[in-house]
Amino acid sequence: MDHFLYRNGVLHAEDVPVPQIAEAVGTPFYCYSTATLTRHYRLFEEALEGLDHVVCFAMKSNSNQAVIRTLGNLGAGMDVVSGGEYRRARAAGVPGDRIVFSGVGKTREEMRVALEGGIRQFNVESEPEMQALSEVAVSLGVAAPIAIRINPDVDARTHEKIATGKAENKFGIPIARAREVYAEAAALPGIEVVGIDVHIGSQLTQLEPFEAAYLKVAELTRALRADGHEIRRLDLGGGLGIPYTQSNEVPPLPMQYGELIKRTVGDLGCEVEIEPGRLISGNAGILVSQVIYLKSGEGRDFLIVDAAMNDLLRPSLYAAHHDIVPVIEPAPGAEQAPYDVVGPVCETGDTFAKQRNLPPVGPGDLIAFRSAGAYGAVMASEYNTRPLVPEVLVNGDQFAVIRARPSFDEIINRDTIPEWL
Ligand code: LLP
Repeated sequence: MDHFLYRNGVLHAEDVPVPQIAEAVGTPFYCYSTATLTRHYRLFEEALEGLDHVVCFAMKSNSNQAVIRTLGNLGAGMDVVSGGEYRRARAAGVPGDRIVFSGVGKTREEMRVALEGGIRQFNVESEPEMQALSEVAVSLGVAAPIAIRINPDVDARTHEKIATGKAENKFGIPIARAREVYAEAAALPGIEVVGIDVHIGSQLTQLEPFEAAYLKVAELTRALRADGHEIRRLDLGGGLGIPYTQSNEVPPLPMQYGELIKRTVGDLGCEVEIEPGRLISGNAGILVSQVIYLKSGEGRDFLIVDAAMNDLLRPSLYAAHHDIVPVIEPAPGAEQAPYDVVGPVCETGDTFAKQRNLPPVGPGDLIAFRSAGAYGAVMASEYNTRPLVPEVLVNGDQFAVIRARPSFDEIINRDTIPEWL
């Protein structure tokens, strides 16, 4: 459930009519709901009740500081994957001891920033990275807490671009080598082993792959303890999928996921961390756009809208489906017709949906792409010199611009012309 519903025939974000926001900020824009963010975060909190745990929001899915602060105020930790995200989390007020640092390519500089600023743990993905972290920590005279990300060789059964837990993926160290690598870690100065990390992919719509991975983690925990390592924390990653359509398959609920966690690793006495992104932010956001033209093509009609692939990349990058709804509620029983919904960018790939059945919409009408709160604004670019679209956060009957649309001057003045020109 989210908080984008029709009321009196008009789409609302919580208590705010979407056209009112469009009037104030122009289109396109992203709009997030505080109530939905809160609700989704709490679902995970409730699912893990009874376990010592931290829910670390995967900031890569939505890193606006207002979103981070909303979740941080509820007690959320953060999963960051770059020095930039680390800085954002801190700027939004999240304490270092609630931040885990993931990613295969952390630089020494990023390690230093996190060690100096305070960090809960680094999720280390390779031996060279562990060596580098050891050197940086020693140079600063501190010990870096680490979990080693293991690759359990499990098929997440999701889109190939977002599966991470198969042996052929670049992530983690092969589980077969884990004991060896933990032994190396224990011998390294400046490294304090605190646990095990695993993340097998994103938009998982079944529990079985999680179960397979977590059972392997439980087995490894016992083996490593037998080897003399103190394994006190398990980071179980993110990846629980969301419904992108209101019609078909319903992914497992956080509560079922929590039960699975308790069943597979609950008896180990470890502190559990999870890193959900999409499930918290995905359905907490929409992208609102205006129809520019309706163009009749050869056997098909194109709905040309003012949002484009640079604003919401998922459909062109992953052939992802986002429900599209008119902001003014269609009359009951209104006839639908198929449209290709496209943006203004000069690429055929700038297509949001092909032959999508929509109720009557025309130039000037507002539409909303649903489930756009995760991996939407964060993956946007200024391709075609299109300004990054603004982000708006709604809370009850209030709304605020949480990132303004840049002016063309701001964009153009970022370039500098060399002297010789
Ligand atoms: N933890 C790690 C280490 C991750 O790599 C990811 C996502 C997450 C947590 C959060 O996963 P989530 O709960 O959001 O599924 N841009 C793609 C998704 C990329 C996911 C990358 N890693 C998309 O738009 O579908």
